[in-house]
Amino acid sequence: MKSTRAGFMALGATVMNTTLATAQNLSYGADNFYRSNNVTLWPITIQTLYQTKVAGNLFLPNNLDRSASNSAVIVGQPMGAVKEQSANLYATKMAEQGFVTVSLDIPFWGGSEGEPRNTVSPEFYAEGFSAAVDYLGTQEFVDPARIGAIGICGSGSFVISAAKIDPRIAAIATSSMYDMGAVSRNGLRHSQNVDDRKQIIAAAAQQRWVEIHGGETEYVGGTPSEITNTSDAVAREFYDFYRTSRGLITPASSLPNLTTHPTLSSSTKFINFYPFNDIDTISPRPILFIAEPKELFWIPGAGHVDLYDRVDLIPFEKLVDFFQTSFVDN
Ligand SMILES: *[C@@H]1O[C@H](CO)[C@@H](O)[C@H](O)[C@H]1NC(C)=O
Ligand SMILES: *[C@@H]1O[C@H](CO)[C@@H](O)[C@H](O)[C@H]1NC(C)=O
Ligand SMILES: *[C@@H]1O[C@H](CO)[C@@H](O)[C@H](O)[C@H]1NC(C)=O
Ligand SMILES: *[C@@H]1O[C@H](CO)[C@@H](O)[C@H](O)[C@H]1NC(C)=O
Repeated sequence: MKSTRAGFMALGATVMNTTLATAQNLSYGADNFYRSNNVTLWPITIQTLYQTKVAGNLFLPNNLDRSASNSAVIVGQPMGAVKEQSANLYATKMAEQGFVTVSLDIPFWGGSEGEPRNTVSPEFYAEGFSAAVDYLGTQEFVDPARIGAIGICGSGSFVISAAKIDPRIAAIATSSMYDMGAVSRNGLRHSQNVDDRKQIIAAAAQQRWVEIHGGETEYVGGTPSEITNTSDAVAREFYDFYRTSRGLITPASSLPNLTTHPTLSSSTKFINFYPFNDIDTISPRPILFIAEPKELFWIPGAGHVDLYDRVDLIPFEKLVDFFQTSFVDN
């Protein structure tokens, strides 16, 4: 869906130590680390079907009626990020409106288990959302029939992938979604042909030989660690969020300077990822797409990363209305 990205497949990119830049653009209410006095955050651990642990946060409205059966929403972070980037913000804002919410580190990222760190595994990522449904659906104050999910950026495609085989996800919303499969196969704005794709596949396969012989893990390029006078607009947009105090986070459990950099040897797993195939089978469960221009719910002036944290641009009313009205007829 999204045609620009920060070059996940830019092979050979050098990952440099992060230097905290002061330059940042906090326009439109950018507020990634927002906390609400009306919401309490509880760190949680969720078990996957594969008996691995996923790190999450449970957000409870302080005025929650624990004897009632409440609606719940799971929020997945941008691909390559951690739940403290964008997902906690969405989860907090939705909890302010009365939802029980969970933010989630997808497997292999942030506080979630999975080795090697930063592995690409779309199937396992989708399982993270189903595991969060297991968790929420077994809380006495949650109605198991009213659990929805929001996927930001790459998580948009993982949520759709999960929902296709998990009808317990009763309503789905995506924000700044990336089809990580299509963009990995075709590149930015279809800039990659089949030969280019074969080169990427060959490089990842070659890296497997390196690693099986004990060589160093290599990571593919994501958000750059530095901005130079030749950096393009996409690099600048992602840099402004991930590498400045606007969105930079260095949880002890993750690899701070490797945020947004998946391992090379696993990166091609996305080439086999087709989240939109059979998307119609999710019907009649509703799906909402929120996206930057040329998509279905138009946010004037918004860029991809703007919808991570700019609270004046993110249509929380739309999300609240969607989840308040979507569970009724399922
Ligand atoms: C990331 O940072 C750690 C700790 O500062 C450093 O040891 C490591 O070399 C860095 N990795 C890369 C790829 O820059
Ligand atoms: C800051 O971000 C907003 C929203 O993306 C954009 O319209 C504006 O041009 C940016 N300002 C600068 C100085 O880059
Ligand atoms: C927090 O709760 C108070 C009391 O109900 C309410 O007046 C206020 O608007 C709430 N704030 C937010 C940001 O939801
Ligand atoms: C870009 O940066 C390089 C290296 O810092 C410098 O030599 C060059 O003059 C700069 N170009 C422009 C157009 O500013």
